[in-house]
Amino acid sequence: MSKFYANYHSHRAAFRHLFDDVCSTPILLLQGASGSGKTSLITHCMGDIPFDVIRLCVQLRADSVGMEEIFSRSIDEVGTGNLRLYQQCLEEQLSQSVQLTNVAQHGTTNTINVDLSMSESAAKSRRTARLTQAWFDDMRIYNSPIVVILDAYEQAPSEVQDWISGPFLARASRCKNVRVAIAGQRVPVPGIEWGARASLLEFNGVFEPDEWVPVIRGMKKKVREPADVFIAGICQLLKGHPSDIMNFIEGLNDAPK
Ligand SMILES: Nc1ncnc2c1ncn2[C@@H]1O[C@H](COP(=O)(O)OP(=O)(O)O)[C@@H](O)[C@H]1O
Ligand SMILES: [Mg+2]
Repeated sequence: MSKFYANYHSHRAAFRHLFDDVCSTPILLLQGASGSGKTSLITHCMGDIPFDVIRLCVQLRADSVGMEEIFSRSIDEVGTGNLRLYQQCLEEQLSQSVQLTNVAQHGTTNTINVDLSMSESAAKSRRTARLTQAWFDDMRIYNSPIVVILDAYEQAPSEVQDWISGPFLARASRCKNVRVAIAGQRVPVPGIEWGARASLLEFNGVFEPDEWVPVIRGMKKKVREPADVFIAGICQLLKGHPSDIMNFIEGLNDAPK
């Protein structure tokens, strides 16, 4: 990624605000079209995260990254010892079997039929909710702040999106040392469970020539002077879209040495 960067100042400030001791909106939603600069902003903001904050950065994908993957990455970060309740819950679930007691059997070819009243999907949601609760209970007693950064929300399967926008954010909104940033072309819709604890920022482009002139100078590109007037026209033409503006700058001739 280019080190030359046109700043989204208010977005960057909102990201920094996540690490205030008292943060009224610990959930930051970053929404914008492809190429509008969401991933670049997150990458640049990594340097703004205080050193004592544990980071959990996950690029969501259609195929593999779900709840288990997100939580198991946290094991890599904080160590199994700090995820005692989560591990315990996971082990319980893995070892669960149907217990039958006092069932008399006669003969040699009898079978036992068990009707489980809960549907498979309801049982799965319940297991997921329990694991999520256990993970947040671990985080609550863990003594460092934790930031969970999820990128490309729109690419996650609908089941994972439902988990993030439901059980995950509902608990995150109530856990004092967890902060969450979610970026995507679509992001979870703030609702009654956690909406009051979230802030939503749109990526509508960087139009200010003052942001782009240092990028052009840094990349040693030649532009018609005055540079700010020239780039103001380009910003209007390309609707402030960072990816398009960057492509345009890259295509300019090099400035004479
Ligand atoms: N603020 C910015 N300043 C300079 N270039 C940017 C900026 N934001 C994005 N870009 C350029 O646009 C490309 C795509 O941006 P990216 O952050 O991946 O978009 P998104 O994640 O929204 O799809 C980057 O590789 C970079 O070249
Ligand atoms: Mg991206």
